[in-house]
Amino acid sequence: MRTTDNLSLPPDGKPFHEQPQWRNDFPIDWPQDELVARRDFTKFLVLTSFAFVVGQWWIALENVLRQRRGKPPIRRIAGLADLPVGQTLVFHYPDSHDPCVLVRTARQRFVAFSQKCTHLSCAVRPEPEKGQFYCPCHHGFFDLNTGVQTGGPPRRPLPRIKLEIRGDSIYATGVEVRS
Ligand code: FES
Repeated sequence: MRTTDNLSLPPDGKPFHEQPQWRNDFPIDWPQDELVARRDFTKFLVLTSFAFVVGQWWIALENVLRQRRGKPPIRRIAGLADLPVGQTLVFHYPDSHDPCVLVRTARQRFVAFSQKCTHLSCAVRPEPEKGQFYCPCHHGFFDLNTGVQTGGPPRRPLPRIKLEIRGDSIYATGVEVRS
């Protein structure tokens, strides 16, 4: 409940109900300020929880439809804050037997490719500092940004994982196999 007992007198000396709106929006007294902050924070929590639940249901629905059409699922890989620029993350997509690598190449840029070398399926190693993926089995090389083969025996690019940023997370949404 709002009380004026321990509030400062406004500098113009007018009563509280005659004060301009901005003085209510930016109060200088803690009792008023906390009242607004708590109410806003509760609103924020309710809205973000609701948005999260709706988002998860929407993805589940999309995946049911995609499964019926024989398309790969939409799957969350990581939170944007979990992967600093220049870092990499191994994940599995579309199945648990399909290793892939996600690389954050810039603040707003992510790339992901299958980790299986297109020569004989060894696991490629991301080397962001050199701008490449390296396959240690027979010294194969792929470009870090495009997945295109740049040296050694591989003759095809790495399959590209399609990505989407939704909210504060990054999702895999498909696989593009290139020749
Ligand atoms: S398996 Fe990668 S170069 Fe041979």
